[in-house]
Amino acid sequence: MLATTLFARKWNHLSTIKPLFLFSKIKWFIAWFGGNHPKAEYANINWDELRFSLTPTDYMYVMNCFKEENFSKGFLAPFGSIELSPSSGVLNYGQGLIEGLKAYRKENDQGILLFRPELNALRMKMGADRMCMPSPTIEQFVNAVKETVIANKRWIPPPGKGALYVRPLLMGTGPSLGVAPAPEYTFLAYSSPVGKYFKVPMNLLVEDNLFRAVPGGTGGIKSITNYSPIYKAMSKAKTKGFSDILFLDAATGKNIEEASASNIFLVKGNSIITPAANGTILPGITRKSIIEMAMNFGYQVEESPVSLEEMLGAEEVFCTGTAMVVNSVASITYRNKRMEYKTGEETVAEKLYAMLTGVQTGRIEDKMGWTVEINT
Ligand code: COI
Repeated sequence: MLATTLFARKWNHLSTIKPLFLFSKIKWFIAWFGGNHPKAEYANINWDELRFSLTPTDYMYVMNCFKEENFSKGFLAPFGSIELSPSSGVLNYGQGLIEGLKAYRKENDQGILLFRPELNALRMKMGADRMCMPSPTIEQFVNAVKETVIANKRWIPPPGKGALYVRPLLMGTGPSLGVAPAPEYTFLAYSSPVGKYFKVPMNLLVEDNLFRAVPGGTGGIKSITNYSPIYKAMSKAKTKGFSDILFLDAATGKNIEEASASNIFLVKGNSIITPAANGTILPGITRKSIIEMAMNFGYQVEESPVSLEEMLGAEEVFCTGTAMVVNSVASITYRNKRMEYKTGEETVAEKLYAMLTGVQTGRIEDKMGWTVEINT
């Protein structure tokens, strides 16, 4: 009886994520005859046209577990659709987290590097705790990312052309009608080759009506529920010709917080200031790395509330994020008042971008021990 129940449980368990294997075999067959050979060193795509958009790759990594249990062994499956209960926690109540990190080919194709993946694992753990979900251990997370990258190696862009973006997800996949944590969970990592998020400096519009995060909310974790609620403000800004929105703090409406998917910094002389990540701001891994790098360069870095008035006196402004890396802000507009900032080659943003990407791609020696080499 127990054996039958356990079997039924395991079967049910596997059925939460059932990739469509047959479809994927057909896809490979088509890919092969279309000249995109799955065993070639590089996938057959135009690497010069990469943008930050989805190009499906070959495999994804999947790991399942029950509520109040721990994740154990995961597996690679062909990338494809998954089966979800209509009453899964993630679909009904948004019980889910995302992560994002990049794998780069080193110069001369001398290996593959990840950048501080253990920090993504840690952030997922913190988010999982807030969202009442079990989470993979740091080791399981990093191993899953490595396996995803190795299995999709042919999709890692050539040096200088971009990176393989890995998107780990943690979601309540078990069914639940009542408002309560789901009974089953899935960790899944997929990947896509990506190019630049923005190709030119950004023009930001300050949003003073809709807010991204509230004190005590989930702004400080990578909950999936942090993203679609900003689409309305973002579409409005894009319709008016802006690149992105800049959110204010919900408590006072006076201080800047972050853009839709990136942290913000301002530069005044030798000082670099960024809003403190105190629960309503995402503690970005690029943000943390830029703070540490800037301090090593001799800048005085301050994490404190940044008022809109303070933005008036800034010489330079830039945004950071895994997807964005480091991108200069050309202007910020607040209620028809436009503030303009320095962009171009002589900026602090350029200097930090060069250093960060140099380390990430192995072009510059990694004195901080931030990169993790993947052995294929
Ligand atoms: C990242 O920078 O990796 C992010 O998660 C932003 C993303 C939502 C595009």
